[in-house]
Amino acid sequence: MKKPNLILLGAGGHAQACIDVIEQEGKFNIAGLVGLPDEVGTSRGKYQVLASDDDLPNLLSQCQFAIVSLGQINSPKNRIRLYERAVEIGFKLPTIISPRAYISPSATIGAGTIVMHGAIVNANATIASNCIINTRAVIEHDAKVLDNCHISTGVIVNGNSKVGAGSFIGSGSLIKEDISIGKNAVVGMGLTLRHNLPDDSKFLG
Ligand SMILES: CC(C)(COP(=O)(O)OP(=O)(O)OC[C@H]1O[C@@H](n2cnc3c(N)ncnc32)[C@H](O)[C@@H]1OP(=O)(O)O)[C@@H](O)C(=O)NCCC(=O)NCCS
Repeated sequence: MKKPNLILLGAGGHAQACIDVIEQEGKFNIAGLVGLPDEVGTSRGKYQVLASDDDLPNLLSQCQFAIVSLGQINSPKNRIRLYERAVEIGFKLPTIISPRAYISPSATIGAGTIVMHGAIVNANATIASNCIINTRAVIEHDAKVLDNCHISTGVIVNGNSKVGAGSFIGSGSLIKEDISIGKNAVVGMGLTLRHNLPDDSKFLG
């Protein structure tokens, strides 16, 4: 059966990692990418940057599915803008899961979220929409990750902790169990967070 076409929204480094996961998952045919105006016509491996954001509505006739492949450090603003625009135009935003990730049958994962190679999403964990659960991140039992978060490579979010919407957790950081992180928070890389973090705050150790 022919695979449905999928377009990637964002053509930087994170898009390269997304391409690998999407190819390994094998459910979609990658039609190409959407990037900045000066990236149009360039390639990312086998795939072309077909258009810039402004042309997005014209791609719907060739392509029903889209995923946000822009990276996120500090602010979730651009990923949220692209996600909302894609939904408004009428694209479907699938959940993409690496075949090398483990997702508990009791976990739930929202639309437009990508779970990358080696990640573990354990029992009763909830991941909302438009999130990145990056390579080898662990989301432990009963933990919650709300919309538009980036949980970077090698992060451990321990049991029953909550990461508020739009937050970023830097590479390799450890979040103690039962911790609540507010919305739009930033946790730098390589840190251990043992206390709650308010909305809009930055934890740099
Ligand atoms: C948190 C982060 C986004 C802050 O970036 P920023 O706002 O540009 O801040 P700066 O890098 O200028 O750092 C400000 C200060 O905090 C310190 N700092 C920043 N991140 C830190 C960290 N993770 N641990 C300890 N100190 C840190 C810096 O050394 C600097 O200190 P100084 O003023 O004494 O020199 C960035 O440092 C970071 O951790 N990025 C994550 C990278 C990552 O995980 N990438 C992988 C994606 S998959």
